[in-house]
Amino acid sequence: MHRIVFLGPPGAGKGTQAAEVARRLGIPHLSTGELLRSAAAEQSPLGVEADGYIRAGHLVPDPLVLRVLGERLERPDARGGFLLDGFPRTVAQAEALGRVTALDRVVAFEIPEAMLLERLTQRRHCPNCRRIYNLATSPPRVAGRCDDDQSPLEQRSDDRPSAVRTRLKVYLEQTAPLVAYYRDLGLLVTVDATGTPSEVRARIEASLSRA
Ligand code: AP5
Ligand code: MG
Repeated sequence: MHRIVFLGPPGAGKGTQAAEVARRLGIPHLSTGELLRSAAAEQSPLGVEADGYIRAGHLVPDPLVLRVLGERLERPDARGGFLLDGFPRTVAQAEALGRVTALDRVVAFEIPEAMLLERLTQRRHCPNCRRIYNLATSPPRVAGRCDDDQSPLEQRSDDRPSAVRTRLKVYLEQTAPLVAYYRDLGLLVTVDATGTPSEVRARIEASLSRA
């Protein structure tokens, strides 16, 4: 079974890789960031509350995130495995996850900080199908429009420089300790996240097949 976590700083390429790797493994891609952004777009009470934290670049409080993820993990398609992207992000979240499921591998993305800023400021995404673009490295065929459904592309509210700085700080303080946490559990593999998306994917797939 594939029960996988992608761990890494904002802009490391988790979402880009998770979409493709999950498709190839036939497991659902579960991104807490996407689940929270969908809730915010629908203006549900939970989404409205989460949106304030997201815009500022802070973590959404554990009880809200655990509720959103718990509901998603209970859906039948997640019973045969899953790829978690952006969860867990705190030791408390990792402990909560450990109480409901075992994991097979945690893939930690390694990348220099300067490259993260470059990737995030150039990112655009489709608010409809969630496909991720980059104006410098993977632009849409028609400027400003999604290749798949022609929706107007948007910039995420948390890709403003001030929110990006907060997200990087929050990552170092609250999420980076999970690298040692999962190494101690014998679940960690590290992957060089520089290079083209297909180079990074090949490294991830090699590290998963060694599992
Ligand atoms: P989330 O949506 O998870 O954001 P993040 O972790 O900050 O990560 P990103 O989505 O910004 O980056 P990514 O690694 O997915 O990179 P991507 O593939 O897009 O979380 C957002 C917010 O939600 C959080 O700040 C928090 O408020 C809340 N939240 C979510 N989960 C939570 C949790 N568990 N607990 C509490 N709060 C939570 O790539 C980035 C760019 O680079 C793109 O433009 C892409 O095209 C480009 N790119 C990708 N790979 C390459 C490559 N190899 N070469 C060149 N360019 C590339
Ligand atoms: Mg992402």
